[in-house]
Amino acid sequence: MISSPPLKLVLWALTAVSLILHHGCGARCDTKAPTVQQVQVGFGEPPKFAVEVKNNCPMCPVIDVHVKCGNFSQAVVDPRQFKVLSYDDCIVNGGLPLPPLQKLSFNYSHSKFLLTLKDWHFQCE
Ligand SMILES: *[C@@H]1O[C@H](CO)[C@@H](O)[C@H](O)[C@H]1NC(C)=O
Ligand SMILES: *[C@@H]1O[C@H](CO)[C@@H](O)[C@H](O)[C@H]1NC(C)=O
Repeated sequence: MISSPPLKLVLWALTAVSLILHHGCGARCDTKAPTVQQVQVGFGEPPKFAVEVKNNCPMCPVIDVHVKCGNFSQAVVDPRQFKVLSYDDCIVNGGLPLPPLQKLSFNYSHSKFLLTLKDWHFQCE
């Protein structure tokens, strides 16, 4: 009674759609937020820091990676790699895609700026 063929078909279709969504890009990258790391590599005055931003998603490019960067000084880094947009808002790689599992690295010489991930988007087919 409840399992007439049309209803079965609808349920099957809903299941298929939800499976597709679960295997879509969001799910593939969900737990794979990009990481922003920095280590001190020079101990002079000013000190020198190596920064590495990595796309940890194996499936999709990441775009528009914004980093909380405090008073980061544009003078210490190429803006194509890391651009200061406003206080506490810097953008990685000009907002352009960082391919799956790819890193972008740069160094700066200055007293340390705290850098933490702020926002990003995955770009999927
Ligand atoms: C950032 O720079 C401004 C202007 O130089 C200063 O007033 C402010 O205290 C600085 N903020 C931090 C967190 O260093
Ligand atoms: C950053 O500095 C370290 C140590 O001086 C050097 O080995 C590394 O190649 C530099 N990285 C970049 C991206 O310039």
